[in-house]
Amino acid sequence: MNSPVMQGLNLQTPAFVKNARLIAWVADMVALCKPERVYWCDGSQQEYDRLCQQLVDAGTFRKLDPVKRPGSYLAWSDPNDVARVEDRTFICSRNKDDAGPTNNWMAPGEMRATLQPLFDGCMKGRTMYVVPFSMGPLGSPIAHIGIELSDSPYVAVNMRIMTRMGKAVYDVLGVDGEFVPCLHTVGAPLEPGQKDVSWPCNKTKYIVHYPETREIWSYGSGYGGNALLGKKCFALRIASVMGRQEANGPAGSLGWLAEHMLILGVTNPQGKKYHVAAAFPSACGKTNFAMMIPPKGFEGWKVTTIGDDIAWIKPGADGRLHAINPEAGYFGVAPGTNEQTNPNCMASLDKNVIFTNVALTDDGDVWWEGMSAPPAHAIDWQGKDWTPQIGKDTGAKAAHPNARFTVAATNNPALDEAWDDPKGVPIDAFIFGGRRSTTVPLVTEAQDWVEGVYMAATMGSETTAAIVGQVGVVRRDPFAMLPFIGYNMSDYFQHWLTLGRKLEASGAKLPRIFTTNWFRKGADGKFVWPGYGENMRVLKWMIDRLEGKVPGTRHAFGISPSYGELNWEGLKFSAEQFEQVIGIDRAAWAKELQLHEELFEQLASRLPPELKTTKARIEQRLGSS
Ligand code: OXD
Ligand code: MN
Repeated sequence: MNSPVMQGLNLQTPAFVKNARLIAWVADMVALCKPERVYWCDGSQQEYDRLCQQLVDAGTFRKLDPVKRPGSYLAWSDPNDVARVEDRTFICSRNKDDAGPTNNWMAPGEMRATLQPLFDGCMKGRTMYVVPFSMGPLGSPIAHIGIELSDSPYVAVNMRIMTRMGKAVYDVLGVDGEFVPCLHTVGAPLEPGQKDVSWPCNKTKYIVHYPETREIWSYGSGYGGNALLGKKCFALRIASVMGRQEANGPAGSLGWLAEHMLILGVTNPQGKKYHVAAAFPSACGKTNFAMMIPPKGFEGWKVTTIGDDIAWIKPGADGRLHAINPEAGYFGVAPGTNEQTNPNCMASLDKNVIFTNVALTDDGDVWWEGMSAPPAHAIDWQGKDWTPQIGKDTGAKAAHPNARFTVAATNNPALDEAWDDPKGVPIDAFIFGGRRSTTVPLVTEAQDWVEGVYMAATMGSETTAAIVGQVGVVRRDPFAMLPFIGYNMSDYFQHWLTLGRKLEASGAKLPRIFTTNWFRKGADGKFVWPGYGENMRVLKWMIDRLEGKVPGTRHAFGISPSYGELNWEGLKFSAEQFEQVIGIDRAAWAKELQLHEELFEQLASRLPPELKTTKARIEQRLGSS
């Protein structure tokens, strides 16, 4: 059969699909989920346009004004389905300790028994979309293939933007190639004659990973990382497991890292280029940093984007760590994005965008808090009338705080020429940055790899709207990976330590490790540091450190700049203000180290001893400084 549509339970597959394991798996999942139809996506523009039109007809999408936002759509989700659900996310390794104390765990057999009745018939009355995708450039030795089966056409069109999705994946897969099976359902079967809703989902949600068999099963949500399974589920949770497993493979293999990191290139006026990978928790400005425009005083400097959310990092033949962005698009937070905070992002959103949960303006365009002056009237993300007065009176937001845009990387005017290079880019520095109103200085360089791993491991951050739950609570978020690590966090720390030790022993040049905090607040409750493009001043100091140009000031847990080491041209920022963002409050740090201790107690059973000795060393320095 040549048509990509497979009616009923007729299990014939299109001629372009030759992979025996894939064909058998789809047949099994069809038998389980009982969709009305199966559709094999080819990834073409015609298919994308057709599915978008279908979503418009179903009331899920609204086509935006073709002049103001060509090729763009707006979706509003169910109010019960607006963010990742960390408390419903499970790592179902055979052994509980392999998932570790930071992950929700259930024994695989028990989870399969729990999911079986939920998935049985879950796609009734719906189409199952077979979505073939590659994380990383198609056919690259670093890339990996996934196949997502989903009953959500919204997922299919988003996956076409977020990944390399389409027919060519089947050619790479061949007859017996490996793929990660990703099963997704909104969990809303339709009985004959039942009218559909615009955003089907289920109150019950399960985002499940089986690391040993490398499978993903997602039930009940159509939103973001819960549903676009290439992103957090595959490229972080399953990939982190794969990267570590390879370190335990053939002799000499060091394995690799799957990290919650943006990747950027920064070129100085002399044309010398550096590459930086930076980990920040969700909704802490990764996209802004990755697309930053250097401010006044940095003429001739250029920042280019390789990725805005995820990095796969492997030792290259030269012994250096090379990073690729496994994604092909950005699923970024809209609120707060504007011409000042991120002009490159605003330019990226000019056309061919899918917006989710932003407001609709009366002229058929979109608006979100912080985008521009509020419109006199709009329809909010829940389909209700919204005016600035209603917002003031009721606190109602026009856009949900976790409203998102989905856009192709190729829309980004600051896209790095190597963003798609299968070899990746060599990393010169890692940055780990939490969101902290107090305590943590603007920037600190770790004294060495082990102390850098310690700083990343003990990072704390205030929670954001990217997850369902309380916002603004400080929690330990090691490496910004707390919700994304597919195995035991202590084993993950060990993987970083071992990788560093082996690379160093081979004479390789390791990236330097820095931590940052853009978010310290003054007594007035306002951020002291201006952030956004001004973060270039901090980035430049890091490069000066790489080039040996500035000594920095050594303190108990690393090296930070003195006021005079930053370029202040074009910004009024006094030495007193600088002290507010860089100063170290000994009492606050004594408390902070207590929180490190709590984390270490939680992770005690497999915690690398090196981290405990590093803590003792820092405490000693803090006590004697
Ligand atoms: C994201 C997240 O969507 O981190 O990138 O939540
Ligand atoms: Mn993220």
